[in-house]
Amino acid sequence: MTSSIPAKRKVGAVPSQAFLAKTFHWINIISLILMITSGLQIYNANPVFGGRQGWHFPDFLLLGGWLAGGRHWHFAAMWLFSLNLLWYGIYIMLTRRWQRRFASTSDLKALQVSENLKRKNYAWHRLVYTAIIPLLLLAILSGLTMYKPAQLHWLFGLFGNWQTLRIVHFITVPIVILFTIAHSLLALKVGSFRLIKSIFF
Ligand code: HEM
Repeated sequence: MTSSIPAKRKVGAVPSQAFLAKTFHWINIISLILMITSGLQIYNANPVFGGRQGWHFPDFLLLGGWLAGGRHWHFAAMWLFSLNLLWYGIYIMLTRRWQRRFASTSDLKALQVSENLKRKNYAWHRLVYTAIIPLLLLAILSGLTMYKPAQLHWLFGLFGNWQTLRIVHFITVPIVILFTIAHSLLALKVGSFRLIKSIFF
């Protein structure tokens, strides 16, 4: 086990990013914005956490105009969001990118024993963007279970009851937002704005 930088990459060096990693980022961010704004529209039509007089989100955060409009957008964007994650998952498995670019035991080791601050930041960076992936999967699975609870009763069983399922689905949103902020800040710290630019352009 070693705490050296994996994938022959020097800390601080800005890599040339794969075209498909850039494509994944663009589609992911656009579809996430559509999913969140239309999801808030659906929530506003029936604010389950606080009742009719409870907390409503302001209009500028909403997409769809009304309940049915929000649902149409939410389900359409769900295809974009899920299929994007699916092809990207297949791509990183087939090309073994998963092994090269995602968090590994050497990152965990670096966090424990390395005295090199840059190496530690790099390990956090990889850990955070690796951890977003299962969170996105949880958002999709909990959403699908709410959409088809009878057909997906075996999944529904894992959540226990409707309120837990609802809370899990809703809570993925602030967590994904916090992770995205942490991911962006860590990317800035590890490779400055040049690294951020490299994953989009
Ligand atoms: C929920 C939204 C996001 C997810 C799920 C996500 C996920 C990922 C993943 C999985 C990687 C590794 C890509 C690969 O090597 O194949 C990555 C890399 C990267 N992401 Fe994101 N990302 C998101 C949003 C963002 C945002 C908003 C920014 C910048 C403002 C950003 C900046 C970067 C950068 C700079 C890298 C390259 C890291 C490196 O080469 O060390 N990401 N992201």
